[in-house]
Amino acid sequence: MKEKLQEIHSKALNDIESINHLEELQNIRNIYLSKKSELMSYMSHMRNLSGEERVAFGQLINSIKEDISNKLEEKKKILEEAKLQEKLNSEIIDFTLPGKSYSRGSKHPFNIIVDEVSQIFIGMGYQIAEGPEVETDEFNFELLNVPKGHPARDMQDSFFIDETNLMRSQTSPVQAHVMLSKHGVGPIKIISPGKVYRRDDDATHSHQFGQIEGLVIDKNINMGNLLSTLELFAKSMFGEKREVRMRSSYFPFTEPSVEVDISCFECGGKGCSLCKGTGWIEILGAGMVHPNVLKMCGFDVNEYQGFAFGVGVERVAMLKYGIDDIRKFYANDKRFNKQFNKE
Ligand code: DAH
Repeated sequence: MKEKLQEIHSKALNDIESINHLEELQNIRNIYLSKKSELMSYMSHMRNLSGEERVAFGQLINSIKEDISNKLEEKKKILEEAKLQEKLNSEIIDFTLPGKSYSRGSKHPFNIIVDEVSQIFIGMGYQIAEGPEVETDEFNFELLNVPKGHPARDMQDSFFIDETNLMRSQTSPVQAHVMLSKHGVGPIKIISPGKVYRRDDDATHSHQFGQIEGLVIDKNINMGNLLSTLELFAKSMFGEKREVRMRSSYFPFTEPSVEVDISCFECGGKGCSLCKGTGWIEILGAGMVHPNVLKMCGFDVNEYQGFAFGVGVERVAMLKYGIDDIRKFYANDKRFNKQFNKE
């Protein structure tokens, strides 16, 4: 029996030696090591043997098994290495082929405007404040003097998530967050750029757009401060020659409220298609912070006053760059985005 085992062993080693392809390995493994193999069938003989013989016989079978298994592993490594070498030799890399070109991205016109406006106001000593895009009714409306049922809510058709939470329809709630965080102690001088959401969709309105809110709270703040601030902003943004005018308007959170126009930068005020013949372009809403808002947000109205303003980011970009459709901002077309970069 021992001789028979040795015969199987040497036959196996020969077979392994003559393998030329990886695919044959499994076949040989089955022939010599599977449960149904000749070698394994000898296991059943063990029960006819006495104790000592049985141990020796078991050890012999195991050592043959192990050797075959090791040799198969070695052969596998050799064949794999050979296969890799063959692949490397056949795949020649042509270094003269042109490489892939990676086109560099560019700053989005939305961000260009946000950064430009931010720089102008940082230069005037303002800080940047940010607020959440999911707001409560309280912050988005109530603290801004727009109680439930107030008709001014109709102007901002909003995305409510549930009874009390909505996607903010304006950046004005950041005013309330900042004021409350100050516990009635000024000064405050912030701008707050960010995204807002309304149920709107046409060439000049998108369901998502950007606003930049401004808020100044201090002692002895008046309309003159607001006007001169906005004049400086208009000149920095649209050119030295810009003039600013205020028309009276209505916002619930400011009193008095104004709409602010700048003299048309296209025609210089003579009248053209951009300004629809009026010589003026509407640019933002503003006003003196309403005493109700100051009170609700913890400020003593006998001591403090303030002004606020809100400007649409895309609107500024559309005017400045002559973009005719707000939806282009969100179409992700690199050719569009690239046009506005100075670098
Ligand atoms: N939140 C207003 C809007 O979305 C814009 C606005 C107007 C903001 C006047 C202000 C302001 O801070 O004083 O229509």
